Amino acid sequence: MKALTFRGKHTIQFETINDPVIESDEDVIVSVKQCAICGSDLHVYHEHEKGIDHGTAMGHEFVGEVVEKGKAVKNFSVGDQVMSPFTVSCGDCYYCSIGLTSRCVKSQLFGWREKDKGLHGGQAEFVRVPLANSTLIKIPDGVTHDEALLLGDVMSTGFFCAHQANIKPGGIYVVIGCGPVGLMAILGAREYGAQKIFAVDSVDERLQHATTFGATPINYSTGNFEMLNEVSQGRGADGVLEAVGNKSAGKLAYDLVRPGGIISTVGVCNDANLSFSPVEAYNKNLTYKVGRCPARSFMEKIDSSYSGKKIQCRFHLLSPHEIIGRRSRL
Ligand SMILES: NC(=O)c1ccc[n+]([C@@H]2O[C@H](COP(=O)([O-])OP(=O)(O)OC[C@H]3O[C@@H](n4cnc5c(N)ncnc54)[C@H](O)[C@@H]3O)[C@@H](O)[C@H]2O)c1
Ligand SMILES: [Zn+2]
Ligand SMILES: [Zn+2]
Repeated sequence: MKALTFRGKHTIQFETINDPVIESDEDVIVSVKQCAICGSDLHVYHEHEKGIDHGTAMGHEFVGEVVEKGKAVKNFSVGDQVMSPFTVSCGDCYYCSIGLTSRCVKSQLFGWREKDKGLHGGQAEFVRVPLANSTLIKIPDGVTHDEALLLGDVMSTGFFCAHQANIKPGGIYVVIGCGPVGLMAILGAREYGAQKIFAVDSVDERLQHATTFGATPINYSTGNFEMLNEVSQGRGADGVLEAVGNKSAGKLAYDLVRPGGIISTVGVCNDANLSFSPVEAYNKNLTYKVGRCPARSFMEKIDSSYSGKKIQCRFHLLSPHEIIGRRSRL
């Protein structure tokens, strides 16, 4: 099959690699209909993140059609249209049971192979999906491939970032980074009730999108944070949602959060240390939340529809009982 593979720093190759085959009874082979590039692929591309085998098919955002399945796959049939979170999960372990599917004991990330182990990614004609019963979700009727593609990572991660920030309607929030994830964090924050959101980036087009989504833009390369100071009477933000993944964004998050506030970080920063010291965290009574989005469990909470520039989205917070009920029907 044809795939886009990582071949070293700043080198992505369109080449032929072996077709995936069913390796275990719980595997499914998906014929990819659409795939996307995540900001996380860029960490690999720039070699900020190292260790991936050369020749690995990149990407972990994909939707497609089931073309083959193992004997133990009960929830899907050949021909089903499916969406996938960016990591696989078993649905049974402690972490899956508490909704932290990104830390499933059997978790694997699509598009990450190291020392010949791991999974090829979705920027390819076909993908092997292990633990398919508990990883994949059928694309519901009325949801397009475009919409489903957003759910597998970008939208789930944005909403997760907002969820971690413990949004209150009267609070003041800053989203740092207006890439796809940051923009979805703005939407997520709004869905959780935030009314005052500042959005920070240096790319005007992205700030323009942030404005469309209801945030007040701040271009950090030319502007300043006076507005934030004014609305918060100099305190700073109740929550900072960081969707960049570098040291300067981490430092900015610390500088902008008020004492007692929350920094919710989804940006993947490959530096050895945080941008603030333990005593600086102490001096702000800081709550710092960080980590990989449990996309599989968030996908079940989000219903979305996307058309052109207009994003409408409904966010359903289901009870654990409802989530488990849904999962067992999938
Ligand atoms: N935690 C997770 O599960 C998870 C999931 C998906 C993506 N991510 C991470 O989220 C981050 C964002 O992903 P994306 O796809 O939106 O990436 P992206 O590269 O498209 O967007 C990043 C944005 O940050 C802006 N930026 C850079 N430095 C900045 C700074 N100092 N202050 C403000 N803005 C700055 C850039 O101009 C860009 O618009 C990446 O680090 C990615 O690896 C994490
Ligand atoms: Zn991603
Ligand atoms: Zn699990």
